[in-house]
Amino acid sequence: MKCTVLIVDDEKNIRGGLAKSLELDGYRVVTAADGEEGWKTVNRDDIDLVIADLKMPRMSGEELLKRISSAYPTIPVIILTGHGTIESAVGAMRDGAFDFVTKPVNLERLSLLVKRALSNRELHMQHKALKEEIEQLKAKHRFEKIVGKSPKMKRVMDVVEQVADTKASVLITGESGVGKELIADAVHHLSSRADRPYIKVHCAALAESLLESELFGHEKGAFTGAAGRKRGRFELADKGTIFLDEIGEINAQVQIKILRVLQERTFERVGGEETVSVDVRIISATNKDLKKEIEQGRFREDLFYRLNVVNVDIPPLRERKEDIPLLSAAFLKEFNGENGKSIQGISQKAGALLYNYAWPGNIRELRNCIESAVVLSRTDVIEVEDLPMTIRSGSDDENVMIPLGVTMAEAQKQVIEATLNFYKGNKTRTAEALEIGRKTLHRKIQEYSLD
Ligand SMILES: Nc1ncnc2c1ncn2[C@@H]1O[C@H](COP(=O)(O)OP(=O)(O)OP(=O)(O)O)[C@@H](O)[C@H]1O
Ligand SMILES: [Mg+2]
Repeated sequence: MKCTVLIVDDEKNIRGGLAKSLELDGYRVVTAADGEEGWKTVNRDDIDLVIADLKMPRMSGEELLKRISSAYPTIPVIILTGHGTIESAVGAMRDGAFDFVTKPVNLERLSLLVKRALSNRELHMQHKALKEEIEQLKAKHRFEKIVGKSPKMKRVMDVVEQVADTKASVLITGESGVGKELIADAVHHLSSRADRPYIKVHCAALAESLLESELFGHEKGAFTGAAGRKRGRFELADKGTIFLDEIGEINAQVQIKILRVLQERTFERVGGEETVSVDVRIISATNKDLKKEIEQGRFREDLFYRLNVVNVDIPPLRERKEDIPLLSAAFLKEFNGENGKSIQGISQKAGALLYNYAWPGNIRELRNCIESAVVLSRTDVIEVEDLPMTIRSGSDDENVMIPLGVTMAEAQKQVIEATLNFYKGNKTRTAEALEIGRKTLHRKIQEYSLD
């Protein structure tokens, strides 16, 4: 199959000349007259390599290069520069260009470069680069399992590093599947309590009646079935860390007891009188909006402030898309190992789908997706066919296609419907996102019979 080269230059003669030469080399060539047109072509066509001029109207070569190397890290980009602009060439290399060629273009050198870029190319090279990047990040942050290079994730990791070795209570917030538990683990493992007990309690998984005795223990005969004294999780965590997952789910009685542990470091076992003292660091997590729980009288405000001395809020994956290629590569490696496979990489088209999908289930969903793709794949590359239907269908959760010619009302209806779907029917968040009042939203929902 012929490889396709995209030439982006605002000078028609250069486009034509390079195209002719590369066609003689046996490539399919497409051209674009500026960065913006080039970017559209990259998104639409199956491009294997890009040659781009730096100075162009509308969108510069620098900007185009940045977009390509973040959204399509497997496409090599060769930069064309004028004489005496070596700095910008160096900048381009730093931004991920494969190489650069100065004008007037030496066609022989360009031809060699293209050949080299394509032969040792994309998947193998990029996959290796990503793997190296993962190794570096791991070493640097000492967070063995946490992958991420986006500024938002770096900020999270910085906070974690700063607070880990203090006794401050940490409240971790974020949507389901963003990695709250992973961050909680990191806080403990980076603290000087690392070789002391680390006790995890999944508050939502325990029946309400059991949670109190599970956390604080009970004395013999405290309730039917309490055959002997039992130590609770807080006692087991003494000198170490306790992780209270889904803290938004605990009842008022347990909230008071936890508050007292935070204030006085003491409690009594269920059915007991003896006061027990503990030295425990508390990390908690929730995907609920605790402020709203407080407003509605379901969560104690004083407890909230004690738990939330440091807040680590993990942004959803759709707000840090730069992490998607890295995470995909990390999971690919993991599941290759687990399934005895040696898949080399992810095809450009499949990678683009992964990048553009909105990931409502965040990293957990991405991880599951790569796992099933690894299991299903019959070749050494993950192709579009190996991805789940939801991702393949292209009905991108983040975009609404509104054809020209529809009425304003119809357009409004589609936007509201898509936003509602995106927030899983949550009207408060939908109204916020659309910057309209809840009442207005309700009225529109009725008007357009969206319910
Ligand atoms: N930055 C990351 N790097 C690598 N793996 C990650 C990262 N973040 C999350 N994961 C993985 O994604 C999955 C979900 O993470 P985790 O269980 O910590 O999410 P959570 O926020 O606690 O979700 P929930 O609210 O549903 O309990 C886990 O398998 C975890 O290992
Ligand atoms: Mg969790």
